[in-house]
Amino acid sequence: MTDRTRFDLSTADIPTAWFNLLPDMVGAGIQPLPPLHPGTKEPVTPDLLAPLFPEALIEQEVSTASWIDIPGEVLDIYRLWRPTPLYRATRLERALETPARIYFKYEGVSPAGSHKPNTAIAQAFYNKRAGVRRLSTETGAGQWGSSLAMACRFFDLECLVFMVKASFEQKPYRRIFMETFGAEVRPSPSGTTEAGKKVLEEHPDSTGSLGIAISEAIEVAAKNGDTNYSLGSVLNHVLLHQTVIGLEARRQMEMAGELPDVVIGCVGGGSNYAGLAYPFMAGRLRGETPEMRFLATEPAACPTLTKGRFAYDFGDTAQLTPLLPMYTLGHDFVPAPVHAGGLRYHGDAPSLSLLVREGHMEAAAYTQNEVFEAAVLFAKTQGIVPAPESAHAIRGAVNEAIAAREAGQERVILIGLSGHGHFDMQAYDDYLNHRLPEIEFDPSAEEAALAHLPEVPVP
Ligand SMILES: Cc1ncc(COP(=O)(O)O)c(C=O)c1O
Repeated sequence: MTDRTRFDLSTADIPTAWFNLLPDMVGAGIQPLPPLHPGTKEPVTPDLLAPLFPEALIEQEVSTASWIDIPGEVLDIYRLWRPTPLYRATRLERALETPARIYFKYEGVSPAGSHKPNTAIAQAFYNKRAGVRRLSTETGAGQWGSSLAMACRFFDLECLVFMVKASFEQKPYRRIFMETFGAEVRPSPSGTTEAGKKVLEEHPDSTGSLGIAISEAIEVAAKNGDTNYSLGSVLNHVLLHQTVIGLEARRQMEMAGELPDVVIGCVGGGSNYAGLAYPFMAGRLRGETPEMRFLATEPAACPTLTKGRFAYDFGDTAQLTPLLPMYTLGHDFVPAPVHAGGLRYHGDAPSLSLLVREGHMEAAAYTQNEVFEAAVLFAKTQGIVPAPESAHAIRGAVNEAIAAREAGQERVILIGLSGHGHFDMQAYDDYLNHRLPEIEFDPSAEEAALAHLPEVPVP
């Protein structure tokens, strides 16, 4: 342990391969369950995914290799902002009067302001190499859409973004940010796709959801030969690209002379948290660091891991995706429009869901006011205004630090700070002026959504 508060790697230290946890999961007796074809209920074959994704990404999706080389063109762009810094939050520690030591890995230094470019750059690269002309995608808070818009510009691809209507209205600057890179942005549900029209017929005032926006983006890709679909979370290849976060953080924690007791992150679909956690999780699964704890945090309004069911479900509302084995609140569950738009997703990454089910990861859910209380404390002590999504991880860390104080225990806490909140000032204004509704989870909406789950047993 040192008194240093900042741990920097040089550009020469950027990882040159992504890390795949799958072989370690299998080694620990955790067998991944395959995604299923929605019609036949048989495991999906690569040809079903070919209209949406380039071959290289499909290969990564099912890869059983522990390491996958990062292409030079992708590394060249990573160098614009990677490696990202790891800080020790001593000012926050002092404010909490805790004996815990809190470290955070900060992805908000990327040009788009979050971890999302780590995969956006890789996905744009592989699609360009496969001769694709345009990418379509969804975005919640706008972080993913901004990242893909930037990545498409770098690789000279067109970009079409369906932005969840609640965020489209709350965050006009995010839309303008995407348009600056040349992307086309439509509020979702839009009247421009069959999936969007169907939702609007039934719910003309729909505020949208990630599940609906995904359906719209997939439909466009499926109907246009020159367009592929790009997903910002959930899938194995997305989690894989994000492992640069954890690989760097592992070396930076070594520089600090520390091993985390608990690794904490926020979970929308699971990509930033998996990216940070999986390189550390390998140590737990191999029995090298069996005591290391992992805490996934989520909004009380969309408590997928804490209140959802582990089941086969669609990744989108219109039932266009394969069936994924995951914790889900039901594919037609529409979460209340909380400010953490990137965490309003009904499901979670299958590998992360399995780790929770097998007891290797814990999960906790917080209300908006709990989250923003922690976010404001973090801003006041560390100077960084966190994204509302990332603030869930801070809430988790604050709770851990308080527990350490009460137990009179030293504890090393590592948080993934996935992004900054510079486009989220409306959310902060609402909190500071006591206008933030204490939105609780609506179990009756979940019950209705779970009633529509496809009837496929999970082993
Ligand atoms: C800053 C930030 N953090 C976290 C997330 C959640 O996504 P994931 O769970 O894939 O990291 C988002 C999604 O938009 C985000 O913008």
